[in-house]
Amino acid sequence: MPAYTATAPGKIILMGEHAVVYGQPAIAVPLTEVSARAVVRPAIGSPPGHAHVIAPAVDLDTELHALGSDHPLRILIQAVYKELNLERAPAYQLRITTTIPISAGMGSGAAVSVAVGRALSGFLGSPLPDDRVSALAFEIEKHYHGTPSGIDNTVITYNRPVYFVRGRPVEMIRLTRPLTFVVGDTGIPSPTGPAVADVRRGWQRDRPHYEKLFAEIGRLSLEAREAIQEKPLAHLGQLMSANHELLQQLGVSSAELDALVLAAKKAGAAGAKLSGGGRGGNMIALVDPVEAKKISEELEAAGATHILTTTVQTTN
Ligand code: PMV
Repeated sequence: MPAYTATAPGKIILMGEHAVVYGQPAIAVPLTEVSARAVVRPAIGSPPGHAHVIAPAVDLDTELHALGSDHPLRILIQAVYKELNLERAPAYQLRITTTIPISAGMGSGAAVSVAVGRALSGFLGSPLPDDRVSALAFEIEKHYHGTPSGIDNTVITYNRPVYFVRGRPVEMIRLTRPLTFVVGDTGIPSPTGPAVADVRRGWQRDRPHYEKLFAEIGRLSLEAREAIQEKPLAHLGQLMSANHELLQQLGVSSAELDALVLAAKKAGAAGAKLSGGGRGGNMIALVDPVEAKKISEELEAAGATHILTTTVQTTN
């Protein structure tokens, strides 16, 4: 049995985070500058059923059976066996590496699930199709944060811009021109679960107010689906900035994120917003590529701990 390798990109949410959990549309694009990688190779000499997992990013180097039964990786691996109707796998070693910052709103958890689902099923001789890989990753997202919308596993599995509505067939977005973003990290962790739970508590306290905010965000996502094809960038940028204001009202921004968003806009970005769960993590700015360097410098001056520029290429 030869070794099998799979990779999966990170993601950024262009529009609609949080509201997407409540059925509103959202737009996400893959972030190919960072990725998760899983390599499964035979463990020659070890008995069948033996699996060794190594994931340096989370200090993991252990036998699979030593992981708690509720460990997301163990649940994922067992779900792959179940998909393949496999009682006992041949002995293997699974190595997971990632360049996606963890807890930064870039989809690191979903990317690891997608890469592992693909590499393990491929190693076992039955590579799973995309819809099954995405469904497996979605199940694991639930273990990370109770009520995921499914947008992360979808955009990461298909590696294409998506217009996503929970529970509906995924719609790929055709990009007729490339889009360039500067991504700025606050350096503050952004675990998705607590932010999603806080929004849920707010919604339970005052449903009309929150549902109005969710609906406004949904309208912006819908408008952005058209604006993505338009030239110049200004309209899409305005929609992103308006989305950020609504996320502030939802209580998921922070002083650090607001400072970076403001700095990007002052430096000439077409628009800017937090991206992902919020509180910390990353913000994104839509930029003219010739301005990317200047805007990156301004973000650094405003406190960003890590900055990258990404261009989402045209799709057909
Ligand atoms: O995983 P993050 O932090 O990029 O957040 C995902 C987006 C949310 O809308 C906040 C949650 C979800 O499941 O859609």
